[in-house]
Amino acid sequence: MARTKRKFIIVGNWKMNPDTLEDAKKLRSAFEKKAKKSPNVTVVLCPPASFLPEISKSITALHIGAQDVDSRPRGAFTGSISARQVHEAGAEYTIIGHSERRAAGDTNEVVAQKVGQALEAGLRVIICVGEKERDTQGKYLRDIREQIAAFMVSMDKSKLRWITIAYEPVWAIGKSYNVALSPADIHEMCIYIKKTVAETAGKDLALKTHVLYGGSVDFENAKKILADGAVDGLLVGRQSLDVENFSNIIDYASNL
Ligand code: PGA
Repeated sequence: MARTKRKFIIVGNWKMNPDTLEDAKKLRSAFEKKAKKSPNVTVVLCPPASFLPEISKSITALHIGAQDVDSRPRGAFTGSISARQVHEAGAEYTIIGHSERRAAGDTNEVVAQKVGQALEAGLRVIICVGEKERDTQGKYLRDIREQIAAFMVSMDKSKLRWITIAYEPVWAIGKSYNVALSPADIHEMCIYIKKTVAETAGKDLALKTHVLYGGSVDFENAKKILADGAVDGLLVGRQSLDVENFSNIIDYASNL
């Protein structure tokens, strides 16, 4: 029987990089070429918000996302950008709840409000969850459960197909590439995340929820995680600024 091919989602989170629009455009065109040759993969680039209008122009194969949105629709909030505004600027996706935003003050409640704003604005949402550390008593599992329950409780369940959950253990982000979690542990966490989603959305919807892994992904560990981690894709930080390595990850996912 022919194997059903999975369509992986590979997200590049550029964070506050690169410095110039010119460099951002160079990355965009390299990855646009790669995405065109990889119809089996959804490639999402998340540049800094100021680059969104230019980077989202004249793309046919790539998808573009923002890195965050505000929890409120509009108003006197200096320096903030609303979900509607990033959508207008060309974003189809947005990341929400990244650990770097949580460290800057986003609570589970704020994350839930941001998810609501993003869905309302018509964005697809990549929601990051992840524990700060792994203890032996399983407290980390409770933390993940709380993070998921916080946005699930207020979310319109018919919008569940618009969300993707990115599991990013905080202790594995921005570290050495041999720190990424093992495929077996990632597999276990995927099951746990879907089980938690099922508590509020039911099993059928939960099984369809896409789960990504992020945290010190490079080409070497990406191969193992995509093959054996039971994930629907990857959220890649530093290596998404490296044309050769990010392209290799896309290629691998496309041919798996
Ligand atoms: P990293 O970042 O791949 O550089 O660890 C991942 C992330 O923060 O999303």
